[in-house]
Amino acid sequence: MTDQYVVFGNPIAHSKSPLIHRLFAEQTGETLEYQTSLAPLDDFTSFARRFFEAGRGANVTVPFKEEAYRLADHLTERGRRAGAVNTLARQADGSLLGDNTDGAGLVRDLKVNHGVALSDKRILLLGAGGAVRGALEPLLAETPHVLVIANRTVEKAEQLAKEFSDLGPVLPAGYDWLEESFDIIVNATSASLAGALPPIAPSLIQPGKTFCYDMMYAKEPTAFCRWASEHGAAQAVDGLGMLVEQAAEAFYLWRGVRPESGPVLTALRRLMAEA
Ligand SMILES: NC(=O)c1ccc[n+]([C@@H]2O[C@H](COP(=O)([O-])OP(=O)(O)OC[C@H]3O[C@@H](n4cnc5c(N)ncnc54)[C@H](OP(=O)(O)O)[C@@H]3O)[C@@H](O)[C@H]2O)c1
Repeated sequence: MTDQYVVFGNPIAHSKSPLIHRLFAEQTGETLEYQTSLAPLDDFTSFARRFFEAGRGANVTVPFKEEAYRLADHLTERGRRAGAVNTLARQADGSLLGDNTDGAGLVRDLKVNHGVALSDKRILLLGAGGAVRGALEPLLAETPHVLVIANRTVEKAEQLAKEFSDLGPVLPAGYDWLEESFDIIVNATSASLAGALPPIAPSLIQPGKTFCYDMMYAKEPTAFCRWASEHGAAQAVDGLGMLVEQAAEAFYLWRGVRPESGPVLTALRRLMAEA
């Protein structure tokens, strides 16, 4: 039987993961099948276990990443730190390895696809949800000068800063505490989904210097990318590259082959423009 992979989510019909992994499989000559899987909200664990009686691997998206973390028998260090799992891989002994490839996908998109150096930079993360939790370990491994987490609910930023302070210089903030500019600003709030912005001051952008990144992606520039461009950001890019790179990390974990993400990102961007 062909090796089976799925992405679990609810809802899941919109997912681009099957297309991405089909393109990776074609490119690398790997034989596999990858489908969406609508998991029930009230019984993710049994549903996932049934899949893994024969299935080889799964991606996990909203709202099951914390349940997947609890389901995994072993965790990678970044999965353990994130407290959430977006990739599950069945091991030779039948046990499940849980990983979180979101943050590695972000770092790779920033460094490799956009040529942004992170070492010794002042980095601002907007938001303190699951995506930020997954990004902290890989970002701090790049030795930034400082990493500030700003969130509407300041206590959540404080909690994250405390949990990750052993890995590097990480500070919490409320939006109205911020005035000075940053080298890199990453929007990881879900405000973008409603076309909204967190209450951030234009002074956070140093015109011509600050690189702005929205984890959300869309056919048109997102509200955050428009705001950043209007205030003179050196560049304002969306998170489609992060999506492709986190998938490439998962593919590598499952198959031991690293696909080339550039052509897949180009194909995906073209398909989105045509849709
Ligand atoms: N490109 C990719 O591959 C990728 C991967 C993962 C996530 N993402 C994107 O990243 C974003 C965050 O995802 P997540 O999983 O971290 O979500 P989450 O866990 O639900 O966290 C949402 C965050 O957004 C904040 N927020 C929501 N509405 C806001 C508003 N109106 N003003 C200010 N802050 C607001 C929340 O603040 P409070 O704590 O105060 O509620 C919280 O910090 C989403 O847009 C998601 O699509 C992209």
